[in-house]
Amino acid sequence: MGFIGLTSALLALSTSFDVPIKSAITIDRHLLEPGARRVAMSDPPHVMVGGRSQTCNGCHQIFASAGAAGAPRAYHESVQLAHGLNDRCVNCHDPKDRERLTLRDGSTIPFSQTPQLCAQCHGTLYRDWQRGTHGKTLGSWVSHSAEQRRLNCNECHDPHSPRYEPYAPLPAPNTLRMGEQQHADHRESGALVSPLRRWLHQPQTGEHQ
Ligand code: HEC
Ligand code: HEC
Ligand code: HEC
Ligand code: HEC
Repeated sequence: MGFIGLTSALLALSTSFDVPIKSAITIDRHLLEPGARRVAMSDPPHVMVGGRSQTCNGCHQIFASAGAAGAPRAYHESVQLAHGLNDRCVNCHDPKDRERLTLRDGSTIPFSQTPQLCAQCHGTLYRDWQRGTHGKTLGSWVSHSAEQRRLNCNECHDPHSPRYEPYAPLPAPNTLRMGEQQHADHRESGALVSPLRRWLHQPQTGEHQ
C-alpha cells in the first residue's frame, strides 16, 4: 500500500514538471523538392533533329571528327560546357565513335556506364558513390539485391554543367536541447532558461561567457 501511495505521489508530482514540448516547425513541402530528376541517356544515344530521333553516328559517320583535340563548335549549341578545366568535348566523347564515351587508357564505354567516365577524374567521389555515401540508393539497402537501384551520376548531374547551385539550408528540427527559439539573440540577462532544466526554475547564467 505504502509503495502504491509513493508511486502515485511521484506520478502526481511528475505532472507538475513543465517539460516544454513545442509544436514542430512545418516546412512547406515544395521547399524539399530538389527538382525533377534528370533522365539519363540510354544506348544507343540519340538527339532530336527536326522533331525526329537521330542516333549520333547517323550524322557522325558521314564526316570525320574535326580532330583529336576537338574543334570550335559549329553545332550542338544547346550543349553549354561549364565543367571547369574539363573543357574539351573529346575528354569524354570518343572522337571516332560518338555513341561511346572515352576513358583515359583509350578504351571506350557505352553511355549506360557513365559513372566509369566520371571515375577517371573524380576518384574519391566515385568511391563514395560505390559505397553509398554519395548519390542515392532506391529499392533496398541490401547490396546485390535485385531490388536495389543506385542512381548514376548523370541522373543527377548534367555532365556538361555538373555543379549544383548553392542552396540555403532549412531550419533544423525543433528539439528540447535547442532552447527558446523566439529568443535566438542569446540574452545574457538570465531570462533564457534551458528547457531541460526549466522545471527547476533556475535561471541559466554565466554559461555563454
Ligand atoms: C544532325 C547531325 C548530328 C547528330 C545527330 C549528332 N551530331 Fe554531333 N556534331 C554534328 C556536327 C555538324 C558537329 C560539328 C562538327 C565540327 O564542327 O567539326 C558536331 C560536333 C559534335 C561534337 C564536337 C566535336 C569535336 O570534335 O569537338 C561532339 C562531342 C558531338 N558532336 C557529339 C555528338 C553526340 C554524342 C551525338 C549523339 C548523342 C551527336 N553528336 C549527334 C552533327 C550531329
Ligand atoms: C564530362 C564529360 C563530357 C564532356 C566534357 C562533354 N560531354 Fe557531351 N555528354 C557527356 C555524357 C555523359 C552525355 C550523356 C548525357 C546524359 O546521360 O544525359 C553527353 C551527351 C551529349 C550529347 C547528347 C545530349 C545532349 O545534351 O544534346 C551531345 C550532343 C553532346 N554530349 C555533345 C558534347 C559536346 C559538343 C561537348 C563539347 C562542347 C561535350 N559534349 C562535352 C559527357 C561529356
Ligand atoms: C577529364 C576529367 C573529368 C571528367 C571525365 C569528369 N570531370 Fe567533373 N570536373 C573535372 C574538373 C577539372 C572540374 C573542375 C574542378 C574545379 O573547377 O575546381 C570538375 C568539376 C566537377 C563538378 C563540380 C565540383 C565542385 O566542386 O563544385 C562536378 C559536380 C563534376 N565535375 C561532376 C562530374 C561528373 C558527374 C562526371 C561524369 C559525367 C565528371 N564530372 C567527369 C574533371 C572531370
Ligand atoms: C542523387 C543525386 C546524385 C548522384 C547520383 C551523384 N551526385 Fe554528385 N552531387 C549531388 C549533389 C546534390 C551535390 C552537391 C552537394 C552540395 O552542394 O553540398 C553533389 C556534389 C558532387 C561533387 C562536388 C563535390 C564537392 O565536394 O563539392 C562532385 C565532384 C560530384 N558530385 C560527382 C559525382 C559523381 C562522380 C557521381 C557518380 C559516381 C555523382 N556525383 C553522383 C548529387 C548526386
